[in-house]
Amino acid sequence: MPNQMDKVVAKAKGKVAAVQARTKGLRGVFTKLAEQHREAIALLSHLKNVDDLEKRRELWTVIRKALVSHERAEISEVYSALMRYEATRGIASQHALEAGRLETTLEELDLVSFDDVRWEPAFEQLVLSLKGHIAREEEEFFPVGQEVLGDDAVQQLEDAYVRAQRRELARMI
Ligand SMILES: [Fe+2]
Repeated sequence: MPNQMDKVVAKAKGKVAAVQARTKGLRGVFTKLAEQHREAIALLSHLKNVDDLEKRRELWTVIRKALVSHERAEISEVYSALMRYEATRGIASQHALEAGRLETTLEELDLVSFDDVRWEPAFEQLVLSLKGHIAREEEEFFPVGQEVLGDDAVQQLEDAYVRAQRRELARMI
């Protein structure tokens, strides 16, 4: 597991992101998602500085599961709701494509050992794709989603999302 300090730092960065998301008008599930985005980025940048291979493996497993369960729960709860509206159907489809690619990248990287020369470029590629995905969500998808779904629905979706992510995590190895 990441040590206590890594977790505290990542959580703090997540909370700052949630506040920033709220000031941009995002609520409920969208602030939760922005919070988790920042936590994941903080843990990923920390991972590169972990030299102990066993610790690196443990942290990588935590991050991989967090990201995969995040995307899957997002699809099942948030983007499925956006799929119901004409205005956001395109966003939901584009998201599904990106999430699929992201999961494949995560799976591929999981198969490369940390001492393999291919690990670092593959890892950098993952971080780049993830940052692009996050930027599209926070700048484009979430604001439109917030507008279409409205405050009440996005508040309710937060609980549904958290439960779905827990179920996904429990299912993963
Ligand atoms: Fe996503």
